[in-house]
Amino acid sequence: MARQGMVMALLLLVLAAGCCAPAGAVAYLSKLPVTLQVTASPASGQVLHGGEDEITVTWSLNATAGTDAEYKKVKVSLCYAPVSQKEREWRKTHDDLKKDKTCQFKVTEQAYPGAGNVTYRVALDIPTATYYVRAYALDASGTQVAYGQTATNYNFNVVSITGVTTSIKIAAGVFSAFSIASLAFFFFIEKRKKNN
Ligand SMILES: *[C@@H]1O[C@H](CO)[C@@H](O)[C@H](O)[C@H]1NC(C)=O
Ligand SMILES: *[C@@H]1O[C@H](CO)[C@@H](O)[C@H](O)[C@H]1NC(C)=O
Repeated sequence: MARQGMVMALLLLVLAAGCCAPAGAVAYLSKLPVTLQVTASPASGQVLHGGEDEITVTWSLNATAGTDAEYKKVKVSLCYAPVSQKEREWRKTHDDLKKDKTCQFKVTEQAYPGAGNVTYRVALDIPTATYYVRAYALDASGTQVAYGQTATNYNFNVVSITGVTTSIKIAAGVFSAFSIASLAFFFFIEKRKKNN
């Protein structure tokens, strides 16, 4: 009996903790203040190559828009421009940032001491598409509390060489299979000639 009572008490405790935990983990983009000023080094419309080109992103607080007292970290990402999201469900924008697929490629996540910058080499796994840059300010729990992004109409293009590499690999595979097959074929012909 005593044991049952204890289990019951524990259960209630768990339930209570669950119900009243701070709801800080959900962030909606439309509710976040735009307090960070963000710039990226490529000229608008520039074409960058994965694995080769670098971009420098800078961020700073727009003090007229808010204070950064609760900012603990800054997270910078590459975001698909609307033109590269069309008819692609897997890149879709959601206001709920846990579901958002716009900004999938992390450039950096680092402590926020104030204004800063990062130089980033475009990773090889960044798909060929048009991008802009967004920076989120994160609070102590890692939740987005503010953001900023590069200017409206600003974007740059990334050309991924992984696609090319893959087709070269396939072609190389086909050719080597073909050469082994032809070698075997001619070997067989030669052998038959000799036997005749
Ligand atoms: C800074 O924030 C204010 C208020 O939101 C806004 O009106 C202003 O355009 C911003 N300045 C820059 C340079 O973004
Ligand atoms: C980038 O950040 C460094 C410090 O981390 C600073 O010395 C430098 O001036 C910054 N450069 C730009 C362009 O903001």
